[in-house]
Amino acid sequence: MAAPSDDLSGCFVREFELKNSTVLRVNQFEVGDVGCVVWDAALVFASYLQTEDFSKSYGTLSGKSVVELGSGTGIVGLTAAVLGANVLLTDLEDFVPLLELNIKTNETHSQGTSKAQTLKWGEDVSIACPDFLFISDCIYYDESTEPLVTSITDLSDKHTHVIMSYEKRTSENKLALERKFFKLIEEDFKVETIALERHDDVFRSEDILLIHMTKR
Ligand SMILES: C[S@@+](CC[C@H](N)C(=O)[O-])C[C@H]1O[C@@H](n2cnc3c(N)ncnc32)[C@H](O)[C@@H]1O
Repeated sequence: MAAPSDDLSGCFVREFELKNSTVLRVNQFEVGDVGCVVWDAALVFASYLQTEDFSKSYGTLSGKSVVELGSGTGIVGLTAAVLGANVLLTDLEDFVPLLELNIKTNETHSQGTSKAQTLKWGEDVSIACPDFLFISDCIYYDESTEPLVTSITDLSDKHTHVIMSYEKRTSENKLALERKFFKLIEEDFKVETIALERHDDVFRSEDILLIHMTKR
């Protein structure tokens, strides 16, 4: 699997302007695995965090604990940190250096804190259940579906708002994956689709879904 690992040469920067005019500078890679770039589902998610709908529905992020699974470049978690959350960005071990670089690049903007840690889905971790668990575009390969559901279940209690974005893909195997994920997650979680009209006015798209889940 091609991943950034410790060699951070070959980065290029994507700028993302937040509503408060903060400009996040997110390092990405031209070549590598899926975690190396910012996905559209992450832009929709990060934009939604800044909407009035988000704060009215789920409260302020300021002072709240956030864990993000499969952070990739970290843009969603970094946005939450700018908004005052204390964020733990996680991914496979090889992506932690990229996350640390992006944390360092953006630390002066953060009202909250951010740090990065390895978290492979399905593995035991001693992390307290956060106020918010974020997952952006992580339903995409079969072997990871059950471990991902295990991590979501392990890291949530009844108070955790689990919010997930994903891009709806039309191939039969991706649709089957999606069905498998929701069948498993619905055993323990109430699942609500956040209607498109509640998303950010600009960063929204018919094929990118935002889902809110809470433990039953
Ligand atoms: C499609 S990318 C999305 C990245 C980022 N969340 C975004 O939306 O831009 C999926 C992410 O999941 C991570 N991932 C894949 N399998 C994983 C596993 N078994 N455990 C932890 N992270 C994993 C990848 O490394 C990658 O960063």
